[in-house]
Amino acid sequence: MPDEFEDRAREALAQPKNVGEMEDADSVGTVGSPDCGDMLRMWLKFTEKDGKKIIDRASFQAFGCQTAIAVASMATELLKGKTMDEARNLKPNELSGDLGPLPPMKIHCGQLVEQALKSALDGKDAPAKPATETLAGNLQPSSSGKIKIVPLDDDHDS
Ligand code: FES
Repeated sequence: MPDEFEDRAREALAQPKNVGEMEDADSVGTVGSPDCGDMLRMWLKFTEKDGKKIIDRASFQAFGCQTAIAVASMATELLKGKTMDEARNLKPNELSGDLGPLPPMKIHCGQLVEQALKSALDGKDAPAKPATETLAGNLQPSSSGKIKIVPLDDDHDS
């Protein structure tokens, strides 16, 4: 139920996990939602287990709504130990983990997290950025060309 979702999201926001740039990241993905203007960046660190590449750690920075932050907090926790394919197949309602299914109005917030993850898995962005850069700072026009904005091709009905 949406109210329960809101309660759990509030709890997650009280102590969001894995917030901030990952200095030793192997990959980073950045997306922006054309609908609400929110942005989310996710860093991934990989390792190998039983001959398979798996996600060792994930972190994020968000410039946007609280739901996206709550989902990203959950998602970066549950990504640990996932293979590339397992991570790629996670849907917004799975990425939200213990928050439970996303209310219809919040699905695009989960999709922002999903798209940032996919972008990071595709490794299209340059890896770790200088520590002085922030996501908010990157909202300024930049000629570096390092920031890739991926419009969400979602089909939500708002
Ligand atoms: Fe924009 Fe949630 S309102 S991601």
